Amino acid sequence: MNGNNQRKLAQRVQEIPPFHVMEVVRVAQILAARGVDIIHLEVGEPDFSSPELVVSAAKDALDRGQTRYTDARGTAPLRQAIADWYAKTGIYVPPERIQLTQGASGALLLALAVTTNPGDQVLLADPSYPCNPRFIEAVGGRVHWLETEFDTGFQPTLAHLAREAGPSDTNLMLAHPANPTGMAVPPDALRSIVDWCNSSGRHLVVDEIYHSLMFKLGQNSSLTYGDQHFVVGSFSKYFNMTGWRLGWLVVPEYALAATQKLAQHLFICPSSIAQSAAVACFDSSVLEEAETRRSELKVRRDMLVSGLQRLGFKVACVPDGAFYVFADAVALTDDAQAFCIDLIKKTGVALTPGIDFSSRLPASWLRIAYTQPVTRLEEALLRIERYLNDRV
Ligand SMILES: Cc1ncc(COP(=O)(O)O)c(C=O)c1O
Repeated sequence: MNGNNQRKLAQRVQEIPPFHVMEVVRVAQILAARGVDIIHLEVGEPDFSSPELVVSAAKDALDRGQTRYTDARGTAPLRQAIADWYAKTGIYVPPERIQLTQGASGALLLALAVTTNPGDQVLLADPSYPCNPRFIEAVGGRVHWLETEFDTGFQPTLAHLAREAGPSDTNLMLAHPANPTGMAVPPDALRSIVDWCNSSGRHLVVDEIYHSLMFKLGQNSSLTYGDQHFVVGSFSKYFNMTGWRLGWLVVPEYALAATQKLAQHLFICPSSIAQSAAVACFDSSVLEEAETRRSELKVRRDMLVSGLQRLGFKVACVPDGAFYVFADAVALTDDAQAFCIDLIKKTGVALTPGIDFSSRLPASWLRIAYTQPVTRLEEALLRIERYLNDRV
């Protein structure tokens, strides 16, 4: 008898739905190996490289032997640099409340592990970043889906929450702005949701990984409206450091000791080299470059949204930020997954089917990431146009 066959893996692993985009990626890889020019608009990662100053600071950290464990909260200079960065926008967070983590992913997991008991329900917008349910399940929580619509930018509203939330819903997760929509929570709604969580004694975790990549003015950080909730940040997107695995969690005072204790036990500390290097992110030249890139993303958004609309895609919400357009291709297909697979095969343009972000919305939704230069986006639109014309 083979003993291995009797070992049962955890239920939570068996219930993870597949990423449908992986089929698009698989076809793209085969085509690329044959020399086909693939335009990658499926990945949630900018085409920009990490800032040069940060790269040289990492080399320097290695040369200086900064390769040991750091303080479990993260190094003091980096926590101070993040606090100073917030202070420039009028938000005062003491460095003691900043916990460095392994990307926003580590921060989300940590915040949920600190706040969620087995069986507790976490309110979460549908559509959502597909890893969020996994973080909730990993700590024994259960997802309470909030069915959002495009007229509220696929973000929950206070009325929605008041209607939906029950006593088992101990936690609310928001993304501001969100993936896959790029939509922020409008200021008044955000303030009222923060107040609602405070007054009803619910934990609130706001993922602000894309907050610095906002194009619309006046979309404040949730920290403007309170200091009794968790806020997630990351070096991945704004600073183009996805592979460095560094992010942070702003921790409310009431959960500080517990969060630090758990972070130490779960992770010891994030990479010492990445932490040393990341201090250079706040150098004025790096911040200037990051802002230039943000402006570039806005140019891309504008051309892509109008190009997609011209081709018949319904872009219900013009994204406030990040680098995604969530579009309904209902005029072109009722099965975005089949559409994406046929499109990659015939044109080399890779998109992500919307089913990876929502199993509830009609299957005609898809996500397009503008993580390529304008000329490549123009080329992608041209290829899609030819593809659509050839079909008729
Ligand atoms: C909304 C959202 N949160 C968190 C993450 C994870 O980011 P990190 O690379 O910082 O772990 C992503 C990555 O795409 C994301 O889109």
